[in-house]
Amino acid sequence: MAVQPIGIIMNGVTGRMGTNQHLIRSIVAIRRQGGVVLPSGDVLYPDPILVGRSEHKLRALAEAHGIERWSTDLDQCLANQHDVIYFDAQTTLRRAASVHAAIAAGKHVYCEKPISTDTATALELARAAREAGVKNGVVQDKLWLPGLLKLKRLVDSGFFGRILSVRGEFGYWVFEGDWQPAQRPSWNYRAEDGGGIIMDMLCHWQYVLANIVAPVRSLSCYGATHIPERVDEQGNPYSATADDAAYTTFELDGGIIAQINSSWCVRVYRDELFNLQVDGTHGSAVAGLRECKAQHRANTPKPVWNPDIPNPLNFRDDWMDVPDNTVFDNAFKAQWELFLKHVACDEPFRWDFLEGARGVQLAEVGLRSWQERRWLDVPEFGQ
Ligand SMILES: NC(=O)c1ccc[n+]([C@@H]2O[C@H](COP(=O)([O-])OP(=O)(O)OC[C@H]3O[C@@H](n4cnc5c(N)ncnc54)[C@H](O)[C@@H]3O)[C@@H](O)[C@H]2O)c1
Repeated sequence: MAVQPIGIIMNGVTGRMGTNQHLIRSIVAIRRQGGVVLPSGDVLYPDPILVGRSEHKLRALAEAHGIERWSTDLDQCLANQHDVIYFDAQTTLRRAASVHAAIAAGKHVYCEKPISTDTATALELARAAREAGVKNGVVQDKLWLPGLLKLKRLVDSGFFGRILSVRGEFGYWVFEGDWQPAQRPSWNYRAEDGGGIIMDMLCHWQYVLANIVAPVRSLSCYGATHIPERVDEQGNPYSATADDAAYTTFELDGGIIAQINSSWCVRVYRDELFNLQVDGTHGSAVAGLRECKAQHRANTPKPVWNPDIPNPLNFRDDWMDVPDNTVFDNAFKAQWELFLKHVACDEPFRWDFLEGARGVQLAEVGLRSWQERRWLDVPEFGQ
């Protein structure tokens, strides 16, 4: 058994996603477990170099997590042949230029979603990666959430019969930043900086629906900017120019209807920050981030509308937990391991830039639907 180091340039690693999900819970966790075992029995051991603008932040992050290398010079990093992967978790608007530079330097590329804020740029990135022959991947983390993996298991088992509809509730209250600091970065609320919940969340709903239920064929999306002024990280008020809630109806293959609310202006009265309910002729299920509860047709109570008496049924009693039956890893880490194996030994990896472009496309169609106040089809695109 040989240990093969694999050099990874990690850009945008001082950010919220870069630090928490990609560095600490993925790459550092993989190093702690001793690496990723390849089919040959060899072990792939990530050797990251942390890249960003702020020397002191990078040094502190590197020291805190036992990483030896960091740099403020991306071009120099791209020139180093030891590093074969470029990873990008910068703010969205900066991604395309850096990823193009990485492709030009011959690096395999993996990055956060959305890969850009318009479909043409996303497809151009997919084309550039394909022509350069570099492996490419985009984060589609929700597919490895325990709750959604259990939901997928139910779909694969035929539990639902014919699926009729899907309803999703995503969101929580994001503080305005005045009397309590906001828990998301301020660029999320500025359209000119690539913010907005439609661009952020519809690219998730694209792959969640396509992989678990059925692909989206058309949609109607209504956005809103409920909170027009917020306060940024420096305590300065700013105009929120981007949408902070989206109310979307999707028509999926086979006539399945999916309605998903996405909002940063909603207070949570549910079990998890995201719930996805699937109703079918033979059964229903409600998945969250970790849990999934199911109700078979045989366990379905028969409610009768009568507001004149106290509700005689406890509707939650008739649902059963779908068992874990396995140990679930962090969703970002699970996808990182697959991408590393894809690079090292050509194992399959479906979640490439072309798939990422489909997410951007859905968000773009959503924004246009809102602007034009009408249903729109989602055009197909191939290779
Ligand atoms: N997969 C998910 O569920 C998920 C969730 C949230 C965000 N994201 C995506 O991750 C990306 C980062 O989001 P975040 O919430 O971590 O944002 P963030 O603001 O916390 O981090 C952004 C990073 O980009 C860097 N950056 C910003 N401006 C820069 C500049 N001018 N020059 C160089 N570097 C610069 C910052 O230093 C930081 O490292 C976004 O594209 C976002 O859409 C994905």
